[in-house]
Amino acid sequence: MSGEATRVEAVLRADPRVKMACVTRSTSADHHDAFLALVELAEPGASHDLDGDRRITDSWQALFDEVYTDSSSEQDSRFNTAGWISSITGDPFSEQEMCEWLKGTISRICEFALGDVLEVGCGTGMLVSRLGCLSKSYNAMDVSSEALSFVREHLPEWDLKNVTLTHADISSFDKAQGQTFDTIIFNSVIQYFPSERYLFNALESCLTWLRPNGIIFIGDVRHIGLQAELSLMAALHNAPPAATAEAICQSAMKSILEEAELLVHPEWFYALQDQCRGISAVRIELRRGRDHNELSKYRYDVLLQKSGAENLHRPIASVSRFSPGIYCEDDLAKLAAACNQQIVRLAGIPNARLQTALEISNLLPIASPSEPFDRIPYKGTKESSPAAAIDPEYFWQLGSKVGRRARVTWSASRDPSTFDVLFYGSLPEVVSTRPVLNPEVPKSLISNPIEAEWRKLVVRQLRSRVRETLGNLPLSVLFVNQGEVRDRLEQLLQKRFVA
Ligand SMILES: C[S@@+](CC[C@H](N)C(=O)[O-])C[C@H]1O[C@@H](n2cnc3c(N)ncnc32)[C@H](O)[C@@H]1O
Repeated sequence: MSGEATRVEAVLRADPRVKMACVTRSTSADHHDAFLALVELAEPGASHDLDGDRRITDSWQALFDEVYTDSSSEQDSRFNTAGWISSITGDPFSEQEMCEWLKGTISRICEFALGDVLEVGCGTGMLVSRLGCLSKSYNAMDVSSEALSFVREHLPEWDLKNVTLTHADISSFDKAQGQTFDTIIFNSVIQYFPSERYLFNALESCLTWLRPNGIIFIGDVRHIGLQAELSLMAALHNAPPAATAEAICQSAMKSILEEAELLVHPEWFYALQDQCRGISAVRIELRRGRDHNELSKYRYDVLLQKSGAENLHRPIASVSRFSPGIYCEDDLAKLAAACNQQIVRLAGIPNARLQTALEISNLLPIASPSEPFDRIPYKGTKESSPAAAIDPEYFWQLGSKVGRRARVTWSASRDPSTFDVLFYGSLPEVVSTRPVLNPEVPKSLISNPIEAEWRKLVVRQLRSRVRETLGNLPLSVLFVNQGEVRDRLEQLLQKRFVA
């Protein structure tokens, strides 16, 4: 190791928060000499504190206020998509993508009689303006006053008189005089919650405000099990043409460690049923649609039903393992049509939406770290899925074709590249998609924005200490041992230290 790298290592190790530091020479994505430090922290850091909750909620409030202040009022007021930006490209989602996303969301919520609704984080009212007329009453709340001004201004145009607006964040929402609800909606909101505890408390409170058999819809949840894939796709998209596999992994790893949003594993919601009294069913589904984009690949919807008099537990009658050799189109149609009062689960179907991302995340760690990563096969935007992989949308459509319900959910095997489908006929109540799972729970069920904020601060402080002691050296600091989603990236980054 060069003398300079040893000196950087010594400065880092002198910090009491650092348990281990390894420094090596590296090249940045644009091929400049740099130092790479892999650092293991002595403690994970600030995990949860109420000040952290407030600080993070305040910063999202400020950001959304700014986004909505600038949003144009020239467009259709029911379709104000300000702030809907792809984290891969940094560009706004196209109108067509947002239309498909909105259609999928509305049709999922409208499966139920809405009754009295509470919407948490209503934003610019894309749901208010469509669901208000289907509800008895609609209480829309948001932490952003700009969001509420936009909705308030357009209520007359949307011809809605049953809408009440509340300016609050959900932790301080003061429910009006014992009011209860039939439906509570969190659509594309919980990723802005600051901590697991905050989310848990919000859902626990909502369960007390919900009437028996009522529904909590949590839409557009970011899947923590696919965080590595999404970060790699973003890093690859934004890397200069000759970037090495190592530089791409470094950049993905940095964004994972500094992730400011709350990402949740589907199993967190299944576990919630054991921790929170009164949830009779947990239904988790992939997003609908033919578009292969961030919204359809890496996010999902959750439906929690509150216990009521009519809840019946419906066991899964049979589980079949999908295999392209066994199930051709006709067989699938027969399988779907055969069930009626019983639930049939078809397990382990390769997900065509995720094939490219998974191929890349498997390839990058074994690619030569120092040569330009050959991304030619992945240049196109259309997925190059193997013949065996199927688009999840196919199964919802197959269900309607044969007159059966299809619920497309993440695979019980926990392999995020596959999904399961439940087929059933006339069962009116919410059917749980909860599978029998291996009792060994995944390490990362939920992310920790407060800890990520703290890690960012530590990186800034370590870099400035190195600068004060040794001068202005280009240095990337990455933390290791931070959980299983990062394991594959760490393989590549640690290879150089083993050699
Ligand atoms: C991406 S927008 C979603 C808007 C709307 N639900 C939709 O689907 O069109 C997220 C909204 O959640 C609000 N929000 C974020 N954190 C919140 C919190 N803790 N309590 C209430 N609202 C929150 C933001 O101000 C923002 O308007």
